[in-house]
Amino acid sequence: MNASSRFAGKTAIVTGAGSGFGRAIASRLAAEGAAVVVADVNTGNGQAVADSLVDTGAKALFQHTDVSDAHAVEALIQRTVDAFGGVDILVNNAGFSHLSGPAWELSEDEYDRVFATNTKGVWLGCKYAIPVMQRGGGGVIINTASIGAVAPRPGVTVYNATKGAVMTMTRGLAVELARYNIRVNAVNPVAADTGFMKSALGTDELPDANRAALIKGIPLRRLTEPEDVAASVCFLASEEASFLTGVCLPVDGGRSIS
Ligand SMILES: NC(=O)c1ccc[n+]([C@@H]2O[C@H](COP(=O)([O-])OP(=O)(O)OC[C@H]3O[C@@H](n4cnc5c(N)ncnc54)[C@H](O)[C@@H]3O)[C@@H](O)[C@H]2O)c1
Repeated sequence: MNASSRFAGKTAIVTGAGSGFGRAIASRLAAEGAAVVVADVNTGNGQAVADSLVDTGAKALFQHTDVSDAHAVEALIQRTVDAFGGVDILVNNAGFSHLSGPAWELSEDEYDRVFATNTKGVWLGCKYAIPVMQRGGGGVIINTASIGAVAPRPGVTVYNATKGAVMTMTRGLAVELARYNIRVNAVNPVAADTGFMKSALGTDELPDANRAALIKGIPLRRLTEPEDVAASVCFLASEEASFLTGVCLPVDGGRSIS
């Protein structure tokens, strides 16, 4: 097996694949042979990513999906089965942050919205994909959590709590699903300059002062690149990680131990 064919014959779903980490994960899975379903609430970005994968010769399609909507997630799994015959790899990656600020000033609506996408969205993906994986004899689920769940900093407390729940769900499902040959792992990235920053900071660009402050807290002295996350997700999804389950892998340049 060489690295470029690790996922030949496999079918993968990546949520939030229209941008940032999800786009890089979808691209890498496709480059290594997987048929990829690009799921995103943003139709323009999601369709463009799927088109770009097809242009490289990969099997890919876009399915408009709001991961907080049970009917939409059920339709995503069904479309994947109809198009490619099953689900081998599910990457629950879609997520966003409420605006950074004091936790007690967050509105109840924003609290519900961020939990609905970041936490319920992961559960819904699992809810509809697991029976398909069980019928197929196994599978791999990888959730994008955050290093903020392990080492929280002020300002995004509720967001971090959504990711703490994702870590707990990852570990609980790993134990529950081992008997079905389904592995469940997570990645915990540190800050990256993706669309996520717009929702967290309310700006179109990551301001230089914020970037410098973030980098100062990371021993390897740079932000996460989407390709760092893609490499870790693809490792966890591959047979090389066949004995790893319940792992929440820091992709953080050492930030969680500094
Ligand atoms: N960027 C960071 O600093 C950082 C750090 C740690 C973890 N994360 C997590 O990484 C994941 C990916 O974020 P990113 O940094 O690539 O940001 P991003 O904004 O570039 O990408 C997120 C994607 O998710 C999609 N999305 C949002 N809500 C959705 C929904 N309800 N249904 C379907 N799709 C939805 C967006 O349209 C977007 O395409 C998120 O779960 C985020 O919480 C990000």
